[in-house]
Amino acid sequence: MAAGNDRELEEIRIEYLGRSGRLTQIFKNIGNLEEGEKKSIGLLINESKNTLQKLIATQKNKFKETAREWFDPTIPGEAPRTGSLHIITQAIEEIAEVFKQIGFIRMRYPEVDWDWFAFEGLNFDKNHPARDDWETFWLNAPESKKYGTMLLTPHTSNGQIREMQREMQREMQREMQREMQRSKKNLPIRMINIAKCYRRQSDISHTPMFHQFEGLVVDKDINITHLKGVLDYFAKAYFGKGRVTRLRPHNFPFTEPSFEVDITCDICAGRGCRLCKEGWLELAGAGMVHPNVLKNGGIDPKKYTGFAFGTGVERVLMMKSGLKIPDLRLLYSSDLHFLGQF
Ligand code: PHE
Repeated sequence: MAAGNDRELEEIRIEYLGRSGRLTQIFKNIGNLEEGEKKSIGLLINESKNTLQKLIATQKNKFKETAREWFDPTIPGEAPRTGSLHIITQAIEEIAEVFKQIGFIRMRYPEVDWDWFAFEGLNFDKNHPARDDWETFWLNAPESKKYGTMLLTPHTSNGQIREMQREMQREMQREMQREMQRSKKNLPIRMINIAKCYRRQSDISHTPMFHQFEGLVVDKDINITHLKGVLDYFAKAYFGKGRVTRLRPHNFPFTEPSFEVDITCDICAGRGCRLCKEGWLELAGAGMVHPNVLKNGGIDPKKYTGFAFGTGVERVLMMKSGLKIPDLRLLYSSDLHFLGQF
């Protein structure tokens, strides 16, 4: 294409300025002119010659430039790097969707909170080991008389009381009378709180920042069968149809009774194998909301009951995908070689 244009240009140059070109011809004939005309025509010819040469040179340059800009659209392009959601974000969205199907609304509560919401209000003893410096990141911030020291939430259970108090706080802000209590709008609670948690731990199977999701249901006549039903629903919806759960007695300060929740192992379908030993894998902590916690949330435990459960996002993701991450800290290392796989 560029070569063709160059050729045409060269043809034009030859036609006018070539050895037998038009201007050359006129120049050769100059001798036939009268003396008076010779000089002025000569000048004219020279001027025309110069102008033509300049024009041709400029045009030649233009052709060169366009030749440089020209590209072949049929050559395969360089694919741009496309990003994707972080594997944990993908898991969070999937978990939220599973619970949305049965009416749980996703909430987020502070990840920097007061002792009271994470421990005291949840019925923890003053010297409960979970409060230990080694478990909890305490903030070097002014203390609150009412709520104690600030911390990085070590679990999503702080959201239990925050959720219960949500409507209460709004009402207080509106300076409504305490007796108005909770409006029908707020109960039942059907909440799923998915958030970051922080503990002083860092090794191949623990990261200082991780994620939990916490379910909370409060209504009239809520009992353990509702808890079991929701857990079984989750086991099937997230892990697969064949899975079921079982409850094992346990202890948490903020639930009574408390359970550890196990799920059938899908490698041996509950028969027992090397991975699970007896057919069950540990899935979550759960229980019926302790009356003291309901009270702290501004809910009358004589009228209402509830259940709560909580577990790790990283944990269920690895259980589901069979994903063996050699070091859990890789998840948060921003290493694209690792993250780009998902
Ligand atoms: N917060 C508990 C933990 O981090 C789990 C839990 C949540 C237990 C809700 C009971 C009810 O281990």
